[in-house]
Amino acid sequence: MEIIILPTPADVARTAADAIEEQVRRGPCVLGLATGSTPLGTYQELIERHRTGGLSFAQAHAFLLDEYVGLPSAHPQSYHSVIRDEFTASVDFGADAVHGLDGMAEDPQAEAEQYEARIAGAGGVDLQILGIGTDGHVGFNEPMSSLGSRTRIKTLTRQTRQDNARFFDSPNDVPDHVLTQGLGTIREARHLLLLAMGEAKAEAIAAAVEGPVAAICPASALQLHPHVSVLVDEAAASLLAHRDYYTDTFGRKPAWQGL
Ligand code: F6R
Repeated sequence: MEIIILPTPADVARTAADAIEEQVRRGPCVLGLATGSTPLGTYQELIERHRTGGLSFAQAHAFLLDEYVGLPSAHPQSYHSVIRDEFTASVDFGADAVHGLDGMAEDPQAEAEQYEARIAGAGGVDLQILGIGTDGHVGFNEPMSSLGSRTRIKTLTRQTRQDNARFFDSPNDVPDHVLTQGLGTIREARHLLLLAMGEAKAEAIAAAVEGPVAAICPASALQLHPHVSVLVDEAAASLLAHRDYYTDTFGRKPAWQGL
């Protein structure tokens, strides 16, 4: 795991966009996209680079991490709609290149299994963008999710439903259930980019990065992955015990190594 502490959320967004741009410019690739507030600055950066810097996503495919169960894809808060409105409709992904889970599937388990097959059929995810929940979830793998879990239905914790209530008219409108890629699925992506900004994420980041690998903090499973870049702003890094070490080693890293 490489922990990179950056001064501001804008620096996190730019650094994440740099890594994604490098991946996309290398040729056909598969991106894993997260929703929520965290990656919005990164998506804005990428849209800007598409508009002014010729960055094209025409050869890329994208897979969403998760989806609310019970929201039709046209619902403004379905992750299908959110990712289209916040990112993919503003760049040049090909028709049918952006894949998501169907939250209205009659058989959620069959939908989950088909999604796994679609990811595998695309050759797996090259670069996965991740946010983190205040309870340590990644995707919607809530505490006690199996570290080897695959895509499946999960029940959201009260805390996550409260955290996400800001996107809905009423807290009661936040669905109880989601379909999410599992921790085992996420860990198969070749490079993971975990982003976190703000004090509210500091505890979860400290547990994920410096705590034991334990199902109670699902993001700690990322410690088992061979290539994870954790991009955090000062506030999200504020509870890390080894901040000086991370900053010192990143500062002396050879530039050619990239992320
Ligand atoms: C969203 C997702 C979630 C969010 C997490 C943080 O696709 O997978 O894990 O990344 O809930 O949400 P925000 O970024 O809104 O704080």
